[in-house]
Amino acid sequence: MIKLRKKNLLRFNLKKIKDKKVVVRVDYNIDYKNGKISDKFRLTSTRETLEKLKIAKSVILISHFGDPQGFDSFYSFKNVLPQLQKILKLKINFLEDFSSKPLGKFNLLENIRFFRGEKEKDINLAYKIKDLGEIYINEAFSVSHRDHTSITLVPKLMTTFYGLRFEKEIKMLNEFLKLKNLTLILGGAKISTKLPLIKKFLKKAKLIILGGGLANTFLKAKGFNVGQSLVEDEILDEIKKIDSKNILTPIDFFTDKGYRKLNEIKNDDKILDVGFESLKIFLKEISKNKNIIWNGPLGYIEEKKYINGTYELAKNLIKFKNKKILIGGGDTISFLEEKKLLKKFKFISTGGGAMLYYLAEETLPCFKNE
Ligand code: 3PG
Ligand code: MG
Repeated sequence: MIKLRKKNLLRFNLKKIKDKKVVVRVDYNIDYKNGKISDKFRLTSTRETLEKLKIAKSVILISHFGDPQGFDSFYSFKNVLPQLQKILKLKINFLEDFSSKPLGKFNLLENIRFFRGEKEKDINLAYKIKDLGEIYINEAFSVSHRDHTSITLVPKLMTTFYGLRFEKEIKMLNEFLKLKNLTLILGGAKISTKLPLIKKFLKKAKLIILGGGLANTFLKAKGFNVGQSLVEDEILDEIKKIDSKNILTPIDFFTDKGYRKLNEIKNDDKILDVGFESLKIFLKEISKNKNIIWNGPLGYIEEKKYINGTYELAKNLIKFKNKKILIGGGDTISFLEEKKLLKKFKFISTGGGAMLYYLAEETLPCFKNE
């Protein structure tokens, strides 16, 4: 478990940024659909830090957006800047590249993944970022599981502090890591990325509930027919070895061909959501433990027809008034935001992969060699 030290936290070092040129790594990797930002949570989570940075001489924000291979106008910050400014309630100047001149207090550099070397840990790119300012701030918890230039290399070259939100994330996750009586609910497409966490929590949690695409792989490994459903065949053998007595999986589904019990699934069916019976059992079991961690949707929520499992779970979790509930995962958070349920939860992580990584490893690549 990482214990952040005062000397590394922005909160205790505000004096040091006064009148300085500050570079801030944020994670503005937003969900951008039909010309609109659909998840504001990651953006608004940086507001507190940005507010504090008003005492700096100038601020340059750095972020990735999507995972483009070189320039791709869809992922340019230039297009989304008007919306970003509105959500952040800040005037922000756009910097096309490293030679653009900062203007005013807040500036946002073009998508850092457009520049060669961000994902390759490139020392030349790291120095270009360093030359932008005097102090670096990591306010990008949700991408700090990536061993990328702006996350792990630049902090070696510059005085670096962790932002207010970053600090909050680590505190929150540490708090949940210490809890007993825990139910872990995992959904989403891939089980491979969640396997380290599942293995660790087999001992730590009282119960692990699997839903969404990742449950298919698990069910197939246990010998059930899942038809044409999304499955990661390459890890079936690994899953077969898992002791599954504390793992609960769905027993009924909505497939592309309609409702099915687990043993009724046909070869050309595709599982797309959990069924009512499964939900009932899940909720009954969840009610028995005091604490809950949830990451990942229970169905293919990209399509309205298949949001029911995720939506019902969320609405029912809200009803548990005296449980401690931590929710994370990009898709889960943007779904809750869209359904106006997000604010009803107290512990929300901006991280998807980063949250899973930290819960499994109790550290992040950005802390290496600290
Ligand atoms: C995320 O959305 O999970 C983070 O911003 C990291 O993005 P990545 O998965 O493209 O590295
Ligand atoms: Mg994501």
